[in-house]
This record gives sequence, structure tokens and C-alpha cells, in this order.
Amino acid sequence: MNAKDLQPIRLLKPALENDKLFMQVITERKSSRDFSDRELSLQDLSNCIWCANGINRLEDGKRTSPSAMNKQDIDVYAVLKQGIFLYDAVKHELIPVVSGDYRKNTGMQDWVSIAPLNIIYVSDLSKFSFTKEREAQVMTAAIDAGHCSQNVYLYGAAANLAVVVRTSIDKTKMAEILKLRPEQLIIAAQTVGFHKQVK
Ligand SMILES: Cc1cc2nc3c(=O)[nH]c(=O)nc-3n(C[C@H](O)[C@H](O)[C@H](O)COP(=O)(O)O)c2cc1C
Repeated sequence: MNAKDLQPIRLLKPALENDKLFMQVITERKSSRDFSDRELSLQDLSNCIWCANGINRLEDGKRTSPSAMNKQDIDVYAVLKQGIFLYDAVKHELIPVVSGDYRKNTGMQDWVSIAPLNIIYVSDLSKFSFTKEREAQVMTAAIDAGHCSQNVYLYGAAANLAVVVRTSIDKTKMAEILKLRPEQLIIAAQTVGFHKQVK
């Protein structure tokens, strides 16, 4: 379906205050799979995406997650009920890619289509000009995406959200939906939402 049916989502500035201390957040970090269909607030969505790979140093555009040689290879796609969006970190906006509900295509487990947000981490391997070795590129991309997903885990623990990172995703099908170029590789998905018992 046509992305023109969708408007960009202007994300809110990250809310920096939190009641939990950092060591408490680490203590509570876990994978959860008990998702309810409750929508995330725009603030929670904004915070999640910014934690994943937003800009935290305006002076040089560096990110909340590290990347090898600061190549910033990881693109963050947000799969929402209304469509799929690509995160533009400079504008701090979600740019429409395709309209329609593709949440079920983000994984093999049934709750992926219930939870309000599935993030897809895509690495642009062409940014790794420092090596032509595919294995080294893929390993570097996986480490970079892992940092993004850990940040979202920590935000989830801080904000009492349910989070799980996943590699169970039909990458071929999702690459088609996202119209990825051959050098773009899907590394992982991550589901975020409210726990079932929190209504
Ligand atoms: C690379 C990776 C892939 C994973 N893939 C899946 C997955 O496809 N489905 C799922 O339910 N959990 C997945 N997980 C979550 C793990 O099962 C979970 O981290 C593990 O059981 C430990 O639990 P914890 O995160 O609560 O410590 C994955 C975790 C990692 C790091």
C-alpha cells in the first residue's frame, strides 16, 4: 500500500526524568512476551526510538548507541498498526515507508501482531568500507544492532514496558516489504508494548 496515505510522525523530545536508578533498571532488564494490545503513548514511542539510535550529542550528531568507526550503519524501522516508518534521527521523525498493518510479518510468534510496536534493525553493510569481508561486516552489524536493542531493553525496564529482541523473522519477506537494497541486511526485530496485566 501507498506510503502517501501516511503522515510523518513527529517524535517528542526524550523525557529524561525517571524514578528508577540505573542499577535498578539493570536489575529489572528482561525479555517479556505477555503483550497487551494497548497503544504506546507518543512519549513512550519517542523515547524507545531515541534510545535505540537517536542523536544524543547535537554538536557532532553522535548516537545513543555506538557503531563501529561511527559508521551509523543501523537504520531503525518502526512497524506500527497503521504502517511502517523509517526513523530519521536528524529530524527525530518517523518517515512513512508503507501503509497497512505489517506487524504479523515481523516475527513467527503470535504476539508480534498484538503488541503496538515492533522495531526492525537494518544494517547498511555498504557503510563498512574498512573491510570487504562479509563475515566481518555481518558481525560488526550484529554488534551495532545489539547495542540499539539493549538500550530499548533498558528503557523498557525503566518505563515498565514489555520488551523482547528477536531474530525469528522472515527476513526475505520483510526485506521485500521494506524494499531494501541488496547491501541492507535485517539483523533483528524487537517487540515493545505493555504487559497484559497493565490496562
Ligand atoms: C540474538 C537474540 C535472538 C533472540 N531471538 C528471540 C526470538 O526470536 N524470540 C523470542 O521470543 N526471544 C528471542 N530472544 C530473547 C531470548 O530468548 C532471551 O534473551 C533469553 O531467553 C534470556 O532471557 P532474558 O532476556 O529475560 O534474560 C533472543 C535474544 C537474542 C539475544
